[in-house]
Order: sequence, then structure tokens, then C-alpha cells
Amino acid sequence: MTTTVARASFDFSGTTTVITGGASGIGLSCAEAIARAGGGVIISSSRNPAKTDAALQRLRALAPGVPMSAHPCEVGDEASVAGFFGAIAAGGARVDHLIHSAGVSPNTDFLAQTQAEWDQVHNINATGSFLVTKHAAGLMRHNEPVEGWRGRIVLITSTNGINSNDPVSAHYDSSKAGNNMLVRNAAEALAPLGIVVNGLAPGWINTALNATLPPEVRARESAKIWMQRWAEPGEVATAALHVLTLPYYMAQVLLVDGGYR
Ligand SMILES: NC(=O)c1ccc[n+]([C@@H]2O[C@H](COP(=O)([O-])OP(=O)(O)OC[C@H]3O[C@@H](n4cnc5c(N)ncnc54)[C@H](OP(=O)(O)O)[C@@H]3O)[C@@H](O)[C@H]2O)c1
Repeated sequence: MTTTVARASFDFSGTTTVITGGASGIGLSCAEAIARAGGGVIISSSRNPAKTDAALQRLRALAPGVPMSAHPCEVGDEASVAGFFGAIAAGGARVDHLIHSAGVSPNTDFLAQTQAEWDQVHNINATGSFLVTKHAAGLMRHNEPVEGWRGRIVLITSTNGINSNDPVSAHYDSSKAGNNMLVRNAAEALAPLGIVVNGLAPGWINTALNATLPPEVRARESAKIWMQRWAEPGEVATAALHVLTLPYYMAQVLLVDGGYR
């Protein structure tokens, strides 16, 4: 018997989406999905210039003639984030959407976590999410409204911020719990400015972020997923495009975890 799965198609033509972490993993898959849907993308550069160049080449091939660019952005540093959005504003693009995907996830036993490592993870994942949201909203608030709204933001959070599963990620889980609450707070603060904010919490996704996960943790976690496999980043990207385009969806965090006990 042949089975079919209905697939949504998206039209992002004439729009610009800013994607932090857009040269890699989930961010790159989101960028590719938007390029396939005809949208322009501005990514934050990878600290590895070859990764940035490869991402831009790929995006330009997917949407010939549609503007694609990259600018440096250290998300935990307000001057750098302001510079990133300043460069985007100077380029004249209207920022319709933000997908904030940049983040880090080191694995360190609880008792071995130092304050320096805890602070670094919170600086990038928690402070970074606040700074990127704030500066994106600073641009979006000046847009002419489209269908009543000036901009839409999706923060890539994590199921770890809802249900911690591992003692090696206390700092990460804490920072991602902060992201999930930031979604709620930013949504309330920015709605009067015409900006929609939602979150997307992935479960286990096959990206470089998990490259150093101990094999016993990978095996233990895989056994908990009801869909019996990890997701590919493209599947998270499809969900992100849904979140960006759902008409009456605000202040929510969508879990994309394949069912997890
Ligand atoms: N993979 C999963 O299973 C999973 C599950 C739940 C949530 N997430 C979340 O999904 C997001 C994307 O992760 P991923 O799996 O796609 O991992 P990834 O492939 O490692 O991508 C992470 C991206 O973040 C960027 N980044 C890291 N630190 C940064 C900083 N200080 N300033 C600016 N950019 C920085 C990296 O840039 P460089 O190229 O310069 O390193 C990279 O582009 C993260 O927020 C992560 O927490 C992932």
C-alpha cells in the first residue's frame, strides 16, 4: 500500500528573514527552506569564514537573484549585536522575520561545571537571545504593517528548557528555560509594537551541536523517542516556517521532539 504525507508549501517571496546561526545546523536548514520559498536571507557569519561562504553559495543557488548576505554577530555582546542590525539597516533591507538559532551546548558533569563555563553558556544562550530579540524588534517596529503586523520572531529554544534530561547540561537547560520564558515576556512587550514572538523547542536533532554527546547518553536518549529516531534539521526548519506563518499564534513554544517520555 502506498501512503502519502501532505506537505505544506510556503511563499516567502518579497520578504527578508534574519537568521542567527544561519551558517550551520538548524539555522542553515531554516535559511535553505526560506530560500526555497523565494525569500531573502541575512545570516550571522560563522566564525569559520568557509562555513559562511558555503552557506551563502548554497542559498544563492536555491534562489538565484534573491538577496542573500552575512554579517558578523557575537550574540552575547550588545555592541556586536547592535553592529549586526546596524549593518542590516544600512543595507536598506526591511527585516520581516527573525529566526534566532545561534547557541552552544557543552556537556560537562554537574560538579565539574565552573562559573566561567556557566556564565559563558548563559551569555550566549540567554543574554544572546534577549539582545538579538531586542535589536531585531528595534528595526521591525519601524516597518509598515503587513496584515496588521510589522514583524515575526521565532526563538529556537529547547525541550531541555522544559524537561531537563541530563546532568551534563545543567547550564544549557537553565539557559534554555530562560529562553522559553523570554518568548512569553517578549511577546507581551512587543505585541503593542506590532511584533509577533514565538518559540520552537527542538528535541534531539542531528547537528554538530551533539557531536560530542557521550555515546551512552545518545543511546539512552534515543530509546525515549516515540518516533524512534532523531530529527533532521530540515524537519525543524519546516516547523519554523509554520510557526512564522501561523495567523493566530502568539507567545507559544512549539515542541518538535518526535514524542519523548
Ligand atoms: N541539535 C539539537 O539537538 C538541538 C536541540 C534543541 C535545541 N537546539 C538549539 O538549536 C540551535 C541551533 O543549534 P544547532 O543544533 O543547529 O547547532 P550548530 O550546528 O552547532 O549551530 C549553532 C550555531 O550557533 C552559532 N553560534 C554559537 N555561538 C555563537 C555566538 N556566541 N555568537 C553567534 N553565533 C554563535 C554557531 O556559529 P559558529 O559556526 O561560529 O560556531 C552556529 O552557527 C541552538 O540554539 C540549540 O540550542 C538544538
